[in-house]
Amino acid sequence: MKLTVNGTAHAVDVEPDMPLLWVLRDVLGLTGTKYGCGIAQCGACTVHLGGEAVRSCQVLASDAEGAEITTFEGLGRPDALHAVQAAWIAHQVAQCGYCQSGQIMQAAHLLAEIPNPTDAEIDDWMGGNLCRCGTYPRIRAAIHTAAEGKG
Ligand code: FES
Ligand code: FES
Repeated sequence: MKLTVNGTAHAVDVEPDMPLLWVLRDVLGLTGTKYGCGIAQCGACTVHLGGEAVRSCQVLASDAEGAEITTFEGLGRPDALHAVQAAWIAHQVAQCGYCQSGQIMQAAHLLAEIPNPTDAEIDDWMGGNLCRCGTYPRIRAAIHTAAEGKG
């Protein structure tokens, strides 16, 4: 099947019911997307599918065909960071880092939908992305910075 990831079309020889997460990581080598729980409970595997943040552990490869898939690697470039990535650096959000690519993908979708979110909207939108290191206050601050274009 053909999957379009970060603007590039890939022909992949996988079972249609393989989770998109495994295609990204094991077939395409895009390991910025993390495996946490495998049951849509942690958000570590968050990518964008057709512009929407989704849990790639719960998306079948066949369901991703024909849609634009964006992973953490494709959100920005080192010389042209996405505003959320720049704000994350400015606030030094990450601790162990494991959850952070998923957090950033979720936050990027939030700002695409709600350009200037309140704290309550941030908490509501980000609530499904778990961080065992407890970086939530810095995540919230970084989202406000990105919203203000100060990242
Ligand atoms: S690994 Fe997909 S939500 Fe946890
Ligand atoms: S930074 Fe360690 S789990 Fe979030």
